[in-house]
Order: sequence, then C-alpha cells, then structure tokens
Amino acid sequence: MAALTDAPAALDAARIREDFPALDQQVHGRRLVYLDNAASAQTPRAVIDAVVAFYEKDRSNVHRGVHELSRRATENYEASRVKLGRFVNSAESSEIVWTRGATEAVNLVAASWGREHVQAGGEVMISALEHHSNIVPWQILCEETGAKLRVIPMNERGELLMDEFERMLSERTRIVAVNHVSNALGTVNPVAEIVRKTRRAGAVSLIDGAQAVPHMPVDVQALGCDFYAFSGHKMCGPTGIGALYARRELLERMKPYQSGGDMILSVSFEKTIYNDVPYKFEAGTPNIADAIGMGAAVDYLQAVGMERIAAYEQSLLAYGLEKLGAVDGLRFIGAAENRAGVISFVLDGIHPADLGTILDRQAVAVRIGHHCAEPVMRFYKVPATVRASPAFYNTREDIDALVDAIETAREIFA
Ligand code: ALA
Repeated sequence: MAALTDAPAALDAARIREDFPALDQQVHGRRLVYLDNAASAQTPRAVIDAVVAFYEKDRSNVHRGVHELSRRATENYEASRVKLGRFVNSAESSEIVWTRGATEAVNLVAASWGREHVQAGGEVMISALEHHSNIVPWQILCEETGAKLRVIPMNERGELLMDEFERMLSERTRIVAVNHVSNALGTVNPVAEIVRKTRRAGAVSLIDGAQAVPHMPVDVQALGCDFYAFSGHKMCGPTGIGALYARRELLERMKPYQSGGDMILSVSFEKTIYNDVPYKFEAGTPNIADAIGMGAAVDYLQAVGMERIAAYEQSLLAYGLEKLGAVDGLRFIGAAENRAGVISFVLDGIHPADLGTILDRQAVAVRIGHHCAEPVMRFYKVPATVRASPAFYNTREDIDALVDAIETAREIFA
C-alpha cells in the first residue's frame, strides 16, 4: 500500500467527477460525499446516454427481428458482450453469459454445474469471507445433494489461511468458490494461487469478482479460473445486469439454468434442441438496454484506465486508513495487507446505525450493517460495521469530510 506521502497517481478525480451527474448534488444542504461504492457505484453520463439512446432510437427485441431497429439493438447488445469479454480477457465473447448480476451468476453455476457434478460424498469449499450470495446457493446445493460445505478459515486480519486451505483440498473437493475482494473488509484474496491449487486437486473454481472488477484490471485467462461472476452496478454500469464468465468447454457441457425463448434451436413436443453457448443460458428477452449500458461502462473505465484507477484508489485507501486511524475510539475491522475498495470500522460507544444516521445528516453516504456477510461480523463479534468504500472519483477531501463527520458524531455522543 502506498505511503501517505506518495503523490496520488496521475488521475484527475475532480475532472472525472464532472462525468457523474449524481455526484453533483447537495444532500441535507451540503455537498454529497458518496462513499458507498461497494454497495453501488455511480453512473457516468456516457452510460446513461447509451441506455437512453437505446430507448429513444433502437428499442426493439434482439436476435428475432429482420427490421432495422432489431438489427441495431442486436448489434449493440452483442457488441457489449464483446467489450465485456475483452475487459476481463476471456478467450472468446461466447464465454460471457449475461445475468442479472453476480448473485444470479453464482446461482446459475450452483444450479446447472452444481446439480450435475456435486453429490453426496463430495465437498463444496467456500471461505469465511464470503457474501451471502456466495454462501446460500452452495448451502442449498449441499442440502439437496448431501454434499458437505466446507469453509476456509481466516485470521484476525481477515486473510484466508492458505495452509489450511491446502490441507482441506482433497479428491472429494468438487468446487472452490471464493471472492476476489471481500465486500465487508476489502481483503484481496490470492485467487490465482487458489485457482492453481484447486485445479491441481482436480476441482473447478468460481471467483466472485463483484468487488474486484471495479478496482483493478482482471484477466480471467491469467487467473485460470473456471467461472468468474460480476455485477454491472458496481462498475459504473446500470443496475440489474451482470455477467458470468465461464470457460466454453464447461458451458458446452452444462444444462440450461432457465428455459424458454432464445435458448433453443428448435422445439417440438417430443424434443428441444438447445441453442449454442452463451444463448443456451439466456432464456427470454434479455435486459437489452442495460447490457448496452454495460458496454458503455467498459468503454468509460477503459478510457480512464484500470491500472490508473487501481493505483489512485490504493493511494486514497492509504490516506483513508491513516486519517481514520487517528480518530479516537475508532477500531478497524479487518487489516489485510492486500486490500481494495473498502474500509470497515466501528466506533467506541456509538452503534454503527446511530453513526450512519449522523453521517447521513452531514451528507456522507456510507453503508452500515452486516453487509450481507453475517459470518464475517460473527467472526469479529460485532453486530455491524460502518463501511466506507471509495471509488476513483472520490478525493482526499471526501475522506476529510468523513473524518470531520465522525468527529461531530463523537461530540454529539460525548
Ligand atoms: N453486495 C453489496 C454490498 O456489499 C450490496 O453492499
């Protein structure tokens, strides 16, 4: 992590903010300080324009019409898939399946790949750091099949115990499903190593990348993972859209997740022949407008540059940790060496919910709660944390405003 004295990487956050209409507003009479990007990031004008352009000019269905509007909609929809594939460096764009988000992507794998490959006697491995969306689908699968759910433990810093992980791997392991970046603590997990060891054990890997894709370059081929799930709304795209990357070989052998129109080549009452991948997994009219918006989000992020975003955010995180670390009575939850996107903390004598309300009155937006990661809260014996999650359009001024707002809360409660 960069030292406080390091100059911020060359990224003009003040200029970039102008691209995000929602950031330019007053809340309770003050300048909005939006630090809840791990829950949902803001949307640049270019993405809003792309969605509006679809509704204003090209609105029609995809893969179905011979008319001009349908041709344009199909072209833009598929062009977005190509952009997204390049963004995470999939070998081909057919390895990108549109979903409603990372949650649906994990559910797709658990339901389709899982039911086929996980049986009693087998094991599904997740980690102590997971979001509920990467716990509950596997619990359900294990309940249905009689397989065992195993959990890679972590240390006090919120880092996975890799020696323990290696010991837990065996010929019984069917899948290892872990997040790339923890939404509750910001820990960046050593996913390349996890994937390598998982493969060596003969199992497949799923990485929940919802909190990684907005903060760092992601290369699924370099990681070597079998599945990678992520969401649009955390990477400046629209809500209700996301994707599953899956190696083509796996997708080809998997059964459909949902069924209906567009996922078939032919249907008779006797037999249905499924469409090619990825369409086999995209039943019904898809979320066309937001898929097109995702393409615009990729264009936007690439224009800013993911390397620059990562470097800038590391510098901002270091600043945040130093400033918040100086607040009396503030205790960080999680202290991973390698982290991104998130600072979680509690304050002596003030319940996170009360603190959140006082911060909101000062126009500082953070998330309060268990962050859909109750096992993480239980590990630290706290009911909830305050989570500040900066993005590349946040500035040191935003961090200072957060610290000032916390000091005001301390004075109120003193
Ligand atoms: N998964 C989102 C979060 O961490 C909603 O806040």
